[in-house]
Amino acid sequence: MLTYNYYGHACFQLDDGKIKILVDPFLTGNPMAAIDEKDVAADYILVTHAHGDHIGDAPNIAVRTDATVIGIPELMEFGGQRVKTIGMNLGGTVKTEFGFVRMVPALHSSGIAGGVACGYVIGVGGKVIYFAGDTALFSDMKLIGERDKIDYALLPIGGHYTMDPIDAAKAVEFLGAANVIPVHYGTWDVIKQNPEDLLKLVKGAKVHIVKPGQSITL
Ligand code: NI
Ligand code: MN
Repeated sequence: MLTYNYYGHACFQLDDGKIKILVDPFLTGNPMAAIDEKDVAADYILVTHAHGDHIGDAPNIAVRTDATVIGIPELMEFGGQRVKTIGMNLGGTVKTEFGFVRMVPALHSSGIAGGVACGYVIGVGGKVIYFAGDTALFSDMKLIGERDKIDYALLPIGGHYTMDPIDAAKAVEFLGAANVIPVHYGTWDVIKQNPEDLLKLVKGAKVHIVKPGQSITL
């Protein structure tokens, strides 16, 4: 059984019953945060880019939990010797004890000199999850969906900094994903959206609207 725990904004945890994968753990200062950074559990922490609303509390959580942090090499310097890291880059796949992590492109600024923003395809608990990170719509999402059959696509819909519901619906089509979960909206007024708009626009996939603090079985 694979559980999706949504902690608000773009922060979520995937739990296969044994391993907990925490993604973009922005909790301190996140008005939608459903958990305190001191209470969240992690064996792995995946970071998509260095903007504060993504890297967030990753350094502190990594030190406290001894989790392994995964991200681009430029971003993996933050912990020094105190933190276990796996630096990887776009197109790369890392096999892990729970399955695999593939780093895929995102069309967004990185928040760090020499860096790039990314998304992740995560194989865990017999499912394939695609988290787009912060990104604009791009047609190469088709290639991501051709390589792996995406069970769940986690897509930003807030607009302003990322895709909005209209572009996210097109992304679902490009990806051929079976299920969609919108993220990265409603945290602040500037990215306020009605997720029901995505529900209306998406065809051929099931949209799951999960609120901060809620969990669903994938
Ligand atoms: Ni960003
Ligand atoms: Mn963001």
